[in-house]
Amino acid sequence: MSRQLLPVLLLLLLRASCPWGQEQGARSPSEEPPEEEIPKEDGILVLSRHTLGLALREHPALLVEFYAPWCGHCQALAPEYSKAAAVLAAESMVVTLAKVDGPAQRELAEEFGVTEYPTLKFFRNGNRTHPEEYTGPRDAEGIAEWLRRRVGPSAMRLEDEAAAQALIGGRDLVVIGFFQDLQDEDVATFLALAQDALDMTFGLTDRPRLFQQFGLTKDTVVLFKKVLFVVVDVAADNEHVLQYFGLKAEAAPTLRLVNLETTKKYAPVDGGPVTAASITAFCHAVLNGQVKPYLLSQEIPPDWDQRPVKTLVGKNFEQVAFDETKNVFVKFYAPWCTHCKEMAPAWEALAEKYQDHEDIIIAELDATANELDAFAVHGFPTLKYFPAGPGRKVIEYKSTRDLETFSKFLDNGGVLPTEEPPEEPAAPFPEPPANSTMGSKEEL
Ligand SMILES: *[C@@H]1O[C@H](CO)[C@@H](O)[C@H](O)[C@H]1NC(C)=O
Ligand SMILES: *[C@@H]1O[C@H](CO)[C@@H](O)[C@H](O)[C@H]1NC(C)=O
Repeated sequence: MSRQLLPVLLLLLLRASCPWGQEQGARSPSEEPPEEEIPKEDGILVLSRHTLGLALREHPALLVEFYAPWCGHCQALAPEYSKAAAVLAAESMVVTLAKVDGPAQRELAEEFGVTEYPTLKFFRNGNRTHPEEYTGPRDAEGIAEWLRRRVGPSAMRLEDEAAAQALIGGRDLVVIGFFQDLQDEDVATFLALAQDALDMTFGLTDRPRLFQQFGLTKDTVVLFKKVLFVVVDVAADNEHVLQYFGLKAEAAPTLRLVNLETTKKYAPVDGGPVTAASITAFCHAVLNGQVKPYLLSQEIPPDWDQRPVKTLVGKNFEQVAFDETKNVFVKFYAPWCTHCKEMAPAWEALAEKYQDHEDIIIAELDATANELDAFAVHGFPTLKYFPAGPGRKVIEYKSTRDLETFSKFLDNGGVLPTEEPPEEPAAPFPEPPANSTMGSKEEL
């Protein structure tokens, strides 16, 4: 995504109308013959090796498509390309679209390292040696927008609240960078990213009044989705909002994105510092479906493995439960669930009993505060056994919840002896089954 900003440099003074390799006459520029008109087709300049130099001198912003007559993608692109040219011309945008028949202009194709068609390159200020590769969409509006963000500013400067609100209200997805110092290098990164994130509209401001109006005190990039946007002041009474996102106030400044249709929540993956670049990249990634929704998790308690019953949370669950060297028996509970409380002593006793078994872990996880990727927990308590070995096996335990039965289950490697009556009928909130009846039958 990174992109060098091309410095504005003086154009190379190339001898006009002097086809490559021809006479190097001593005429002064004023004596040169009038330059030939470059032919146009559907609003697109048709360039050859003789006219590219001229086009570069005349057009400070020049997009060149290298095409091949036989190439289907090029044929599909042609009408879109012409349409983009027309749209931009109608906006008086100072940008020119051109094309080069690659196979017919082999020198040019070679000069620009064109290996496939179509290839589009964007030339700024006549700089022939460092064109920018066109990476945008291949439809008229996409091409036009990609060019607008290079020829014009990629983010709109916002001077007051009215301008900010107009921008936010006008588009589905608006990203505004609030920067105290527009010379900051984060701003350059922000603008460079804004050049490529075409599905978002970007604004930029350094106005203290706007910082104030949006409750910001430091450099921040905010994503505004349609009219709905949230900047959570963690110093204010916003506990419920934080809870919803599974956030602690100490995490600020941070960023979460929620899709209100799916209620899926997204967090930046790397957890690195919140910078203009990381935020913009994050928004882009979420919108492109490259970020997996995140799951609620408590923090791993420092003493999670100190007591006989180990404490699992979303963040250490995978690692512990699917440890291939351990047999892990987990109780998924809800703090308010009475059956969970009832079985707690048995679970403690079980954990104490197997404390010295290196390969057995008895654990519990508060399933109301920790969401798991592997499965969702619907009833409480839910007991699952994760046997050692590969394959991420999961065995649901649905039998009696007492020490004796648990122990048998563990000793037997995650199954109850075959005399065991079939599973309890599936119930979302399994009740403790009448216990004594089983006890006698289990005796081997
Ligand atoms: C073209 O751009 C590159 C990279 O910005 C720069 O190093 C080079 O000097 C430029 N060439 C001309 C002729 O301006
Ligand atoms: C377990 O069995 C005993 C004796 O039959 C009974 O009194 C007790 O209520 C049972 N406990 C549960 C949880 O069903």
